[in-house]
Amino acid sequence: MSISPETDRHLARSCWHLVAHRSELLADRDYVRLSWVLGDLAVFNDKGSIVAFDNLCPHRGARIFREVGGNAPAVCAYHGWSYRGGRLRIPKPQSYHPCDLAAARLNEMSVAWCGNFLFVAVAPAEELEAQLGGTWPVLEVISRDIDRRRDVNAYAYECPWRVAVENALEPDHVQMVHPETLGQLQLTEARNAYSGRNSVLSAEIGNARTARMLRSMRRLFDIGHQREDYLAVHVFPFAFVTSTFGYSYALQNFMPARDPCRTHFSSRLLTSRLASQAASQATEAFFASVAEINRRVFAEDHEVCRHVNAEFALDDPARIFSATEDKVRHFRDSVLAVKRDAGF
Ligand code: FES
Ligand SMILES: [Fe+2]
Repeated sequence: MSISPETDRHLARSCWHLVAHRSELLADRDYVRLSWVLGDLAVFNDKGSIVAFDNLCPHRGARIFREVGGNAPAVCAYHGWSYRGGRLRIPKPQSYHPCDLAAARLNEMSVAWCGNFLFVAVAPAEELEAQLGGTWPVLEVISRDIDRRRDVNAYAYECPWRVAVENALEPDHVQMVHPETLGQLQLTEARNAYSGRNSVLSAEIGNARTARMLRSMRRLFDIGHQREDYLAVHVFPFAFVTSTFGYSYALQNFMPARDPCRTHFSSRLLTSRLASQAASQATEAFFASVAEINRRVFAEDHEVCRHVNAEFALDDPARIFSATEDKVRHFRDSVLAVKRDAGF
């Protein structure tokens, strides 16, 4: 079965999750809100400190942040409770007598950084370093080249999250599902590397014209780690970071929803540091087209994923994979190992 709410909740609680880049939370009151099987997950800048919590007001449970991100005070629109400078501020506190207001607090989660990537955890089974293993240095380098967020694309996929993640892990569908978009890169010589439950795919750009065009843009960027390939990092269980040539990155979350047949999908386009003011104008149209193509690619993925039967037995030991689906095999084995360790 691909549907297992118990496993989804366990993964959500026991793992670290890549949820944001530092550039999204630079200013006081910047926030990012995601949805997942545990409800909401919000991170915000509170006078320079990053706070992660379940986005619920501790008074009577109203959502604090309502958009997918932005800049707003952490104020509850129901009865005016707010959070500022590390503490709750409650209007007319005497009116709550004899309740113990000192016991009221946000339901906070742990936060940790890998370079400029922000991770959040509810009850982590291990340290972030241990969970990322050899994926840590890959992510750290990427995170330091990223300069800003340019696009947010978030909606619900009508499929279980494992279907969406498996789809993102294999290249075999690209020519069938993305002939006019991702397929145009003509990816070739794909290599998989594994570290713990995470995986990294790198592939060459087989389309010589596109590769030449991308190479010619190098002077526009000021990045420490120049790549000349397509890269896809799976941060187990719910996140991906993908890039072509390191000029921009798509930070993707495929969060399990409370409805096990839905996935809270979100992709943010993060772009790398530019060499000059002139480069900013020269790359404007390029980034706009990357954002547009990414949106089309994810819509194509969603369209095919929603036609995968949610009841299909992903954990059936009699399974069939091509050589290039090895990351799917690795992912299924990783989920099975988590279930086994948890006693499910
Ligand atoms: S529910 Fe937030 S102030 Fe009442
Ligand atoms: Fe795809």
